[in-house]
Amino acid sequence: MEKAMNIVLFGPPGSGKGTHAETLVKEFGFIHLSTGDLLRKEVREKTELGVQAEKLMTAGQLVSDEIIHGMIANFVKPVIDNKGRVLCDGFPRTLPQLDFLVSFLERCGSQLDMIFVLEIPNEMLIQRLTGRRSCPACGAVYHIVNMPPKLDGVCDACHGALIQRKDDVREAIEERLATYEKQTFPVLQAIETKGLKVAKIDASLQREVCYTQIAGYVREFLK
Ligand code: AP5
Repeated sequence: MEKAMNIVLFGPPGSGKGTHAETLVKEFGFIHLSTGDLLRKEVREKTELGVQAEKLMTAGQLVSDEIIHGMIANFVKPVIDNKGRVLCDGFPRTLPQLDFLVSFLERCGSQLDMIFVLEIPNEMLIQRLTGRRSCPACGAVYHIVNMPPKLDGVCDACHGALIQRKDDVREAIEERLATYEKQTFPVLQAIETKGLKVAKIDASLQREVCYTQIAGYVREFLK
């Protein structure tokens, strides 16, 4: 049976959480839990939750903890029951979300094994986010300069049309970075206070270099 492992990719908008998640899923079979992706699906499907969430997301603000906790519980329980590995991307983002995740995993008879903290200066984040293009069909992420698709505007993986996210414009990016500083950065201190295992990654380096560091920790844990 596969050894269980639950991890979090923690870092500001644009630090590479989604990019590394994609490769970690392929290499180690993690089940990718991106609260941002789950919310964008609700927005595309125009559900009641999606309509509420869209306004906040476009403004660079956070969706309420209650909504997020419900989404997490629905997603995580079946994965843990099936002895799967959970990779949290974009969650936890507030102190109540951290407490919820830790206690929910405990209630499921599991635990949070490692938190990867992606560190990067703000100046680089603006360039990364304004140049990002995403595939709404399969979730693949590109960058017009750093990681361009083979064919302009077309996803290499599923040939879907690439889009620019509505919150990837300068004004929304600045608001997202401010929200991160105010509401999410303090979560890091709480993570350290709880004695959870943290690995700091220099996310300003090339994608392959960052990934090699993260994958090294995962491989070591799974040995
Ligand atoms: P979410 O979708 O989680 O967005 P985010 O945290 O702002 O993170 P991003 O997806 O923007 O960035 P990323 O770190 O994944 O970077 P990426 O790998 O794409 O959340 C969106 C919104 O939903 C929130 O604002 C909020 O409203 C709501 N929400 C979500 N979760 C919530 C929660 N838990 N609670 C409340 N509200 C919630 O990389 C960025 C670009 O850089 C790409 O183009 C990529 O190709 C490039 N790149 C990546 N790594 C490298 C590298 N090493 N070198 C060069 N380029 C790179």
